[in-house]
Amino acid sequence: MANDHSGTGFKRGLTHYGDMGFASFLRRSFAKSMGYTEEDLDRPVIGIANTASGFNNCHRSVPDLVEAVKRGVMYCGGLPIEFPTISLGEPYLNPTSMMFRNLMAMDTEEMIRAQPMDAVVLIGGCDKTLPAQLMAAASINLPAISLVVGPMLTGSWRGERLGACTDCRLQWGRYRAGEIDDEQIVEAGSELSTTAGTCMVMGTASTMALMTEALGMMLPGGAAIPAVHAERLRIAERTGQRAVEMVDERLIPETIMTPKAFSNAFRVLLAVGGSTNALIHMTAVAGRRGIKVDLEAFDRMGRETPVLVDLKPSGSNYMEDLYKAGGLGPILRELQPLLHLDCKTVTGRTLGEEVGQAPLWEQEIVKSIHAPLKSEGGIAVLKGNLAPETAIIKQSAATPELLVHEGRAVVFESLEDLADRIDHPDLEVEKDDILILRNAGPRGAPGMPESGYIPIPKKLAARGVKDMVRMSDARMSGTAFGTIVLHICPEAAVGGTLSLVQNGDRIRLDVPSRRLDLLVDSPLLAVRRSKWKPPTLPVGSERGYLRLYLDHVEQAHQGCDFDVLKPTFSGVTTPD
Ligand code: FES
Repeated sequence: MANDHSGTGFKRGLTHYGDMGFASFLRRSFAKSMGYTEEDLDRPVIGIANTASGFNNCHRSVPDLVEAVKRGVMYCGGLPIEFPTISLGEPYLNPTSMMFRNLMAMDTEEMIRAQPMDAVVLIGGCDKTLPAQLMAAASINLPAISLVVGPMLTGSWRGERLGACTDCRLQWGRYRAGEIDDEQIVEAGSELSTTAGTCMVMGTASTMALMTEALGMMLPGGAAIPAVHAERLRIAERTGQRAVEMVDERLIPETIMTPKAFSNAFRVLLAVGGSTNALIHMTAVAGRRGIKVDLEAFDRMGRETPVLVDLKPSGSNYMEDLYKAGGLGPILRELQPLLHLDCKTVTGRTLGEEVGQAPLWEQEIVKSIHAPLKSEGGIAVLKGNLAPETAIIKQSAATPELLVHEGRAVVFESLEDLADRIDHPDLEVEKDDILILRNAGPRGAPGMPESGYIPIPKKLAARGVKDMVRMSDARMSGTAFGTIVLHICPEAAVGGTLSLVQNGDRIRLDVPSRRLDLLVDSPLLAVRRSKWKPPTLPVGSERGYLRLYLDHVEQAHQGCDFDVLKPTFSGVTTPD
């Protein structure tokens, strides 16, 4: 039901009792039970989305941030009120956190709309939380400002610097190959995530934080400050202050989240060698503003956007190093000629004005655009008969020699099939083969889990094979690496060509030409298609959220949002 927001603060959106005067009286009376005065209840109300949860280690510091935001709100004469929303801690959710991103977006949107607030501070961080909050902000169009929890600090094991979670995968790969033993893997595991905060490599959380700052929805400098640094509390306080000012200025997401601003965010995604997941998430956020992402234009952007940031998994450093190097500031400074500098940000100033003010010093983490880490952007978009609607590859984290490769398909029907057979000694596989995982897309798994990082079969890993070409309709953690094709669209579960691949088929990957082809004749494919049957629906799909999810989730190239949550397409695309 549409809400009445003609009032402000506690007068917004009164509860329907049939008597508005009574509704206002009752609300104030109940609110006063929390100790507020009449004067308090006349102040602008700043909602604070509290995503603390015992199932989200990354958000361990959220209570401290809430207090700092409250301080900032009160300094500026506002009334801060925190409210809980769903929190998604990446490793705790079954079958995968991605299935619940839209649920969190719905929860956040509806609680902002239903409760009386004039602006909202969104405290996110762990992979799906920030995208869900941005999707909500884009839909609600109330003054909104993002604050992230910030990245973790690195740990150290036997003289080796470790960080979540590129090094989780490296250590696990060493364990699978027999290079370290049971005791050592447990020891290393204690040093991978050692503080509050999000994964400190250029995974999804770091990528989304930097993109959100570039989009203009976060205070400058807000993306890279470590979670446990005192500056994180200071920026939380400034965020609270700014939220109050945004109410007066009526600075809403519609003004900030423009096609050009999304273009800036995508430019940053490419320049930081960011997570492939961020492409899906920002496509969903743009979709909430009625803006479509043109993946071929994104690919063209990638060809002229070098990777500048030397962070794992594309490089060798961590977010705390980027913070010491100046955070997003030096990245934007290098990218200036490629950015839309006239986009407005939550500060009320333009991105160009913010870039001009960012301090600069000698550092080695952000490379010059004239001497980049890699000459092309991190993500390439592929097309071909195996991916008629596109697939992607994170080429910055791939083995260069495998970017053009033809091989024999070794097919895994599902995640369960993969788990059952990948390490079986009888698996017929050689290092030049192409591992295929299907039925792991948005509908297939369901939830499009991060299972695209198919492990190297144990018998090949033991022979020293470190990388193979792998392909799926799944996603991959931004912290992972390898020659891995992801997001094949349409997915197998809806009858995409991926569902027709058979063991022994030849497949050709050609990243420089942006091609992905199944080398099987069309007539034979037509025969296979005529015999194809959709996979059986997962247990529990007859009701509840899973039913809703399966009925409405869109494909990866559309952002995996629910069709019913998007407005009509405005006719505008991004990036330009
Ligand atoms: Fe939360 Fe990686 S597990 S950001």
